[in-house]
Amino acid sequence: MVNRRDALRAIGAAAGAAAGLTLVRAQEGRPHPLGRPAIYDWQAPSRPVTAAIMGAGNRGRVYAGYAARFPGELRIVGVAEPIADRNDAMAAAHGIPAERRWDTWERAFDGPKFADAIIITTPDHLHYGPAMAALERGYDLLLEKAIAQSWPQCRDILGRAQSRAAIVGVCHVLRYSPYFRMMKHVVDSGRIGDVISVQHFEPVEHIHMSHAFVRGNWRNAKESTPMLLSKSCHDLDILRWVIGQPCRRVQSFGSLRLFRREMAPAGSTARCSDGCAVEASCPFSALDIYLRRKTWLGYKDTPGTDDASIREWLGRTNYGRCVFRLDNDVVDHQVVNMVFGDSVTAAFSMEGLTSYAGRRTRIMGTRGDLVGDEATLDVYDFHERKRYRWAAKEHADASSGHGGGDHGLVRDWVQAISRRDPALLTSTLAASMESHLVGFTAEESRLDGGTLRTIDQAALEQGRR
Ligand SMILES: NC(=O)c1ccc[n+]([C@@H]2O[C@H](COP(=O)([O-])OP(=O)(O)OC[C@H]3O[C@@H](n4cnc5c(N)ncnc54)[C@H](O)[C@@H]3O)[C@@H](O)[C@H]2O)c1
Repeated sequence: MVNRRDALRAIGAAAGAAAGLTLVRAQEGRPHPLGRPAIYDWQAPSRPVTAAIMGAGNRGRVYAGYAARFPGELRIVGVAEPIADRNDAMAAAHGIPAERRWDTWERAFDGPKFADAIIITTPDHLHYGPAMAALERGYDLLLEKAIAQSWPQCRDILGRAQSRAAIVGVCHVLRYSPYFRMMKHVVDSGRIGDVISVQHFEPVEHIHMSHAFVRGNWRNAKESTPMLLSKSCHDLDILRWVIGQPCRRVQSFGSLRLFRREMAPAGSTARCSDGCAVEASCPFSALDIYLRRKTWLGYKDTPGTDDASIREWLGRTNYGRCVFRLDNDVVDHQVVNMVFGDSVTAAFSMEGLTSYAGRRTRIMGTRGDLVGDEATLDVYDFHERKRYRWAAKEHADASSGHGGGDHGLVRDWVQAISRRDPALLTSTLAASMESHLVGFTAEESRLDGGTLRTIDQAALEQGRR
């Protein structure tokens, strides 16, 4: 009798033999032949780190979820959130007293310091204000990306954090997922030699694109940030982190091609429910996505998931509007070319119009190469003529999002605060500044028709000090 694992191994070996390769997989109970990322000596905190949440939406809930899971490490002791249901739910879940509940972040800073840290999960345009106020009062921070809406604002936050010796974790959660940690480990271990070049691809998936970046909170660069910051700062950050050298030159092209007024089909209407003549055949029909299929219904966005509640919600929010008739301006496709260090080239593509999601990466080195799709990492050794396979499903912490990265980040952030050691956190504010500068600079290049830009290394010096 052949079990599934043996059968898969046999299929892999057969495919490899056909290509003149040997495929090496992990064997149960044995260390993976590619090794594993180093882990630091985790220490139980002497008391839970206390924190207040600014913005109890999707991300606020995710990080507060860590406190619910590990109450000995993190305790949520305050919440600022204007939507009453969300405020109530956070307060009930964490036993937050009335005097530590506010309808907006400003009020949380009216009184004396009451916690170790502030978790900033407000919308993008409301990061700068609470970050500066919290640092001023001596709090440590967990700060959602994008850090802020402009490079000068990012620098202000860094300056204040440095002057207060605050620990600031930026939510570049991919750095904490087992998959990307393994990718970095493979490169750092020298297994593929020196990195020559990288191709990195972020397929957003077309309905996700329409939901978040056409109808949703990240549709307009002025209200939020450009796509390279709101979505792809993760990718720019991962590239910098894995390559391990500063980005020096950048160039970008891209545009909003599909989701524009000129592209609205004849017979379409302001809302999908207004008698649109093409609703039945439109892949972005709000009636189809939210009402018939009941997909993409965000956290407590709708009062209920019955048809009447969804219809009412579609009638009053952007989610019911035609994707060709909104005030969105962020791109639906963008490419960025980069040079890291003296010669490592990297090509990044963000594509909104795909049928699939999941980042794909190819890293070409002097002794081998790596091909990854967030599910598997295949590492080929030119000398051995062997391909090694690492599978994320055997390693990911399925109980948190971003392949385990969400709670991995909070774990390291709690350690960094309780031990006063920012080195326990990889996505410090200083480390996260670079990808933001690359993002802002690449966006300038795109708006300027793709001109080649030099990354201002002097501007990054503040973070390196
Ligand atoms: N790290 C990641 O992978 C990741 C993923 C998604 C979103 N984000 C970022 O996280 C942040 C939050 O995103 P989200 O998806 O949770 O959005 P969300 O809309 O679900 O949550 C934001 C919350 O902030 C609240 N808010 C608005 N004004 C406020 C104010 N004045 N004071 C306090 N709260 C206020 C809103 O009512 C809302 O509940 C954004 O900056 C977003 O870009 C990061």
